[in-house]
Amino acid sequence: MKLAVLTSGGDAPGMNSAIRATAKVCAGRGVALEGVELGYEGLIDGRFRPLTLAADAPVGSPRAGSTNIDARPPVMTVETDVERCGGWGGTILGSARSERFRDAEGRRAAAEVLRARGTDGVIVIGGNGSLTGALHLAREHGVRVVGIPASIDNDIGCTSMSLGVDTALNTIIDACDRIADTASAHRRAFVIEVMGRDCGYLAMASAIAAGADAVLMREQGRSEEEVVTALERTIREGFDRGKLRVLVIKSEGVRIPCTKLVRELNARIDGDHVRATVLGHVVRGGRASYQDRRIASRLAFQAVEAFSNDRTGTMVAWQPSERDGIATLDPSVKLFPLERVIDVTRAVHEGTSPEMQWRLAMMERVAGVLGV
Ligand code: F6P
Repeated sequence: MKLAVLTSGGDAPGMNSAIRATAKVCAGRGVALEGVELGYEGLIDGRFRPLTLAADAPVGSPRAGSTNIDARPPVMTVETDVERCGGWGGTILGSARSERFRDAEGRRAAAEVLRARGTDGVIVIGGNGSLTGALHLAREHGVRVVGIPASIDNDIGCTSMSLGVDTALNTIIDACDRIADTASAHRRAFVIEVMGRDCGYLAMASAIAAGADAVLMREQGRSEEEVVTALERTIREGFDRGKLRVLVIKSEGVRIPCTKLVRELNARIDGDHVRATVLGHVVRGGRASYQDRRIASRLAFQAVEAFSNDRTGTMVAWQPSERDGIATLDPSVKLFPLERVIDVTRAVHEGTSPEMQWRLAMMERVAGVLGV
């Protein structure tokens, strides 16, 4: 069997861990694995590189001469930087948001490349757009695909966690702790904007973990005036209670620019106490956390299994507590048909999924506690 793996859309810490794990599992089973560079763009252009190598590779190859301590000689081994990349941020394969692949013609060209290469299937590591692309490839051209959810936004349906979320949250709370130091020294309020596109998960989860005083998410559906009024109250009450600092986590999905928020708040509150920090792409980089590496490795293992078990057209999901989904040998990993994943993802974006409803209800209940 010969598989390919690609990373697509916004990169996420843990993508490399998934690439490494996929390569190791494939190598252990004698499955050849090629990496596709630059996501679907590279697929259309035929930009492939080997990630597994024959174990008896010639002198000069990275593993030649190594002593194998396992009694069974490995069928294959993995390329040197694949072995090293597991903790690195970004993706060693590169990523892209491919306009060409959005067209049926681009997808036809990609499927043709796979056929010509004799590739038996593709593992797609990415977010909503990437998984939708995988579904199109499967439906339109019969390509065998398995998705691995990766997006710091945590907006992918059917999985409780996507790769990158844990690392991004650790980065955000580290930044909040640092900002809290200087905010406390000057008795200031800070609005800290975090990524997440239209999904407020990063803002919500980090606000609780950082001990923020308030959180702003698009899903709350507040008008600009409501946002400014609520923040003015939070800041006044916070300092009236004797707080040294007030932190507000704002999801980027709330479209009011931070500069405007700061201007309006400082105009309403006497003095010049409010500042803002937009964390931006800082949140998306950095070495993958233990949790992201662990989830990535287990999802990748089951992704390769799915090809052996003829369960393609699916996404492997991190779902430790759900009974839903197709069971795998790993009790925390379930398989979901890609059609279902895309449908549930749409509901997450629209705020109508049970998971999102639950998150919002919980946030409303803790809102009164945050500012205490
Ligand atoms: O989807 C991941 C993400 O990082 C979002 O949180 C953010 O809105 C977007 O990508 C940024 O995309 P780009 O890197 O193209 O600016």
